Amino acid sequence: MNIMSICIKTPEEIAKMRIAGRLAGEVLDYVTPFVKAGVTTEELDRLCHDYMVNVQGCIPAPLNYAPHGHAPYPKSICTSINHQVCHGVPGDKKLKSGDIVNLDITTIKDGYHGDTSRMFYVGEPSIQARRLCESTHEAMWRGIYTVKPGSTLGDIGHAIQSFAEGLGYSIVREFCGHGIGKRFHEDPQVLHYGKANSGTRLEAGMIFTIEPMVNAGKAGIKQLGDGWTIVTKDHSLSAQWEHTILVIETGFEVLTLSADAPPPPAL
Ligand code: MF3
Ligand code: CO
Ligand code: CO
Repeated sequence: MNIMSICIKTPEEIAKMRIAGRLAGEVLDYVTPFVKAGVTTEELDRLCHDYMVNVQGCIPAPLNYAPHGHAPYPKSICTSINHQVCHGVPGDKKLKSGDIVNLDITTIKDGYHGDTSRMFYVGEPSIQARRLCESTHEAMWRGIYTVKPGSTLGDIGHAIQSFAEGLGYSIVREFCGHGIGKRFHEDPQVLHYGKANSGTRLEAGMIFTIEPMVNAGKAGIKQLGDGWTIVTKDHSLSAQWEHTILVIETGFEVLTLSADAPPPPAL
């Protein structure tokens, strides 16, 4: 049996989660001007690592993170390029014009986690790549907009899935959003597909991520030999955006917003 225990955060914990979340967003703001043709993902990892540790006084949560069945993650951020879906490991490959890349940042500040990711264009993207990235951003926000006490996890998944599949895209099934707090990955699992008005009901004080992975082609994925990097089986492009969300009495609060976070789309 799968016993779920969703932690309702106290006001003191929420205050710490606001700080950790904003700091994670600010790492993305900081690194944005460096995401250019010719830079390696290892260099982006180093820049973000040094900023988190030396400027923000944070711990990069991915470094040495070792969930069950995985070797410890060797870097401080995830960098997933083009057909890479998630958990791309930074390396010595240079970004080139036309690439799309997801940078996923998880900070630990004062014992609490903030988790957020964005898509970046290297030079000018193709029309298809831009449309996939923008649509995935909108899919994430459509999920976020459903969040309020009394709505359900199924409402989030349904909003994301119906929008993305309506555009002819596929939703990755094997990875999901997650509760977050003192631990990186907590209950509940936040699926990016599902049935409206089904599943766990949301309550004020819950904190979880919404982080849809959307493929331009089929939904199938596979893991590379490094034990971490996930790619699309059909080699189609994949995009992902992520925010950390607090359920409040009036709806939601996005904890990972920062000055340069792209604004929510007008629907
Ligand atoms: N940040 C990812 C998430 O959104 C998890 C990365 S785990 C790592 O859940 F070990 F690959 F960093
Ligand atoms: Co996450
Ligand atoms: Co993340």
